[in-house]
Amino acid sequence: MHVNTLDHFVANGQLAGRRVFIRSDLNVPQDDAGAITEDTRIRASVPAIRTALAAGAAVMVASHLGRPVEGEFDVKYSLAPVARRLGDLLGFEVPLLRDWVDAVAVSPGQAVLLENTRFNRGEKKNDEVLSKKMARLCDVYVNDAFGTAHRAESSTHGIAKYAPLACAGPLLSAEIDALSKALGEARRPVLAIVAGSKVSTKLGLLDNLAQKVDLLVVGGGIANTFLLAEGFAIGKSLAEPGLVIECKRVLATLGDKGATLPLPIDVVVAKELSATAVPTMRRADDVRPDEMILDIGTQTVLGLTHMIRSAGTIIWNGPIGVFEFDAFAEGTRQMALAIAEATVNGAFSIAGGGDTLAAIAKYELGDRISYISTGGGAFLEYLEGKTLPAIEVLEQRAS
Ligand code: 3PG
Repeated sequence: MHVNTLDHFVANGQLAGRRVFIRSDLNVPQDDAGAITEDTRIRASVPAIRTALAAGAAVMVASHLGRPVEGEFDVKYSLAPVARRLGDLLGFEVPLLRDWVDAVAVSPGQAVLLENTRFNRGEKKNDEVLSKKMARLCDVYVNDAFGTAHRAESSTHGIAKYAPLACAGPLLSAEIDALSKALGEARRPVLAIVAGSKVSTKLGLLDNLAQKVDLLVVGGGIANTFLLAEGFAIGKSLAEPGLVIECKRVLATLGDKGATLPLPIDVVVAKELSATAVPTMRRADDVRPDEMILDIGTQTVLGLTHMIRSAGTIIWNGPIGVFEFDAFAEGTRQMALAIAEATVNGAFSIAGGGDTLAAIAKYELGDRISYISTGGGAFLEYLEGKTLPAIEVLEQRAS
């Protein structure tokens, strides 16, 4: 994957005195009062902005926030709280500009934030006219929004076609490098953990990873559906019986290439899903009709953590059990610790997805995972083997 990079343009002196449009992904979670509850993406956007400012550019930063009705300003989706947080991080006030599509007043050495890109009619449809207008605002377009790389919108795709110069920012470059390290030139054995409630939402991921990895570990409702496919009774556990055939297909793909999908041999069950539910350890073939599987058991943990410690590359998407409740958190905790240990001992690990990041934060392991992706949907689509349009257009511009 070859794209131009911001560092390369800076080294060539292509930013000094120029108007630089940086597309970041500042789509961060907020509480009901609008306060930002998690600011990783804002922090991750800072290096590109600092680099462009230090190179003497006039900087416009743009992002979407949420999914507003297109073409209408709605204070609920305003980037105002993001502008304040970005200003705190940069150490100076960042003005937030509305109605910016036709002209932006910004001087070299200054940075402004452009109000929600999705307030512009045509953004989501990647409208040509809007894309060309955006491109006219700048001399250099920088895409640093990995989280939105799976969207072909005017500010992520169309603008990149028409801007005089287009490149990837440091965050996008780092994401591309990390993902190619995990899938392209991966150190073997490659172990992927795909967990979550539904096979249906991760079928593409399971299919693609089955062709690439040596070990595919499944967890949560996904593991329950695989247990069903292998003929186990799973009581009232969350599962999708309609997808048993797809699970069998994934198992066959793995089997054909000598890879494995280790199913749990023991599990932690309860009669209800709640913080006060009473946990019971069972063999995987002994789950009762009125029970639900909420975590993996101790024997399974032992086997799984051993495999993780022996892996060369670990791809992690999804907690293995209901880690939000302490009684069912041990599987996820032990697995996370094993990934951190393997990483410290030289394995390459990459993690992505909201629940996965919450587990990493809960066990304070952020500094022992090789790369934590800022992408949710984009991370999954890349691992599904799909082309990400915002990256593809940068490749086209570089060729
Ligand atoms: C995300 O949070 O996954 C990205 O910011 C993309 O947001 P979207 O799904 O609204 O396009």
